[in-house]
Amino acid sequence: MPETRVLRVNPTEPEKEVIAEAAAVIRSGGLVAFPTETVYGLGADALNEAAVRRIFEVKGRPPDNPLIVHIADRDSVYLLASEVPPAAEELISRFWPGPLTLVLKRTELVPAVTCGGLETVAVRMPAHPVALELIRESGVPIAAPSANLSGSPSPTTAEHVLRDLGGKIEVVLDGGPTEIGVESTVIDLTVEPPELLRPGGLPLEEVERVLGSVRVPESARGLAAFTGRPRSPGMKYRHYAPRCRLIVVEGDPEPVRRKVAELVLDLRAQGMRVGVLALDGADYPGAEVVDLGPRSDLKKVARSLFTAIRKLDERGVDVILAEGVEESGLGLAIMNRLRKASGGEFIRA
Ligand code: TXA
Ligand code: MG
Repeated sequence: MPETRVLRVNPTEPEKEVIAEAAAVIRSGGLVAFPTETVYGLGADALNEAAVRRIFEVKGRPPDNPLIVHIADRDSVYLLASEVPPAAEELISRFWPGPLTLVLKRTELVPAVTCGGLETVAVRMPAHPVALELIRESGVPIAAPSANLSGSPSPTTAEHVLRDLGGKIEVVLDGGPTEIGVESTVIDLTVEPPELLRPGGLPLEEVERVLGSVRVPESARGLAAFTGRPRSPGMKYRHYAPRCRLIVVEGDPEPVRRKVAELVLDLRAQGMRVGVLALDGADYPGAEVVDLGPRSDLKKVARSLFTAIRKLDERGVDVILAEGVEESGLGLAIMNRLRKASGGEFIRA
């Protein structure tokens, strides 16, 4: 496999010739990483089994963890899904294109490998001109997981993608940093009541306004991630994780701040280098601090999250302490990512 080609692309008005070059790679069964509004995706022709198998290979992804199929127009959902209930149509008309993925029963057109062997398919229409143009120009739906190595934090820049997958894939479309910073919200509409499989860029409250009640299993909150029989196979693996240890400290802002300060001292006394993912500009002498933003601006916190985890990991800290946020709005997705990154190490202040 030759070097990965990095093609710069204008994120708002993608150059036709750049998209054409990337689309040719998709059509010939190759892999193209591309920006979406959430994170960078690693794309292949969703209907080409060999191409899809390569996605699993280069990511080191377990073959039972299904991929999201990305489309560029609403009508394509009827090619991929055998049943599109009225609730799905309502969600589609309100939130597509956007950070919402719907799990529906799949048609024969979709290869089983794409769906991790399940009878369902996850579909989404991304709200990013580069992603949409790439899908249109390729002329096929594009299967795309996040463009990171399985288990590591999702990529929000082309540099992140290159660090994980450079030399393993044909092309990276570099459209700059992504806007939302956490992945799409995944809703399973094949069960009654509908179930939240993964909180993400579209707040659950917005989905509930359309669907009424949505079941939120513990795994969607990043709790009980490693037990039970999860319906979304992605739930059972350690995810978003730095190489170092990560501990989440949850609770009200003041006690959280005191507990983190105390832990910084304890861990340093044990000879460790400590990093902190801080909120509201909190300062922790003796630690490497990255401020994620204010609790009042969770969009900013979500946008900075994965970059900050990668940054502290690269600085070589032994342990990262993360201040928790409230589980409402984008806070649900942020806490899911932090708890999963911790591999179960979350404590209450
Ligand atoms: O924002 C996003 O969703 C990004 C961008 C690239 O679109 N994609 C993404 O894909 O995050 P990935 O593969 O990293 O996460 C997909 C999640 C996994 O947890 C997977 O298990 C779940 O969706 N999933 C996919 N198909 C499913 C299905 N048929 N049934 C249940 N869960 C499914
Ligand atoms: Mg992923």
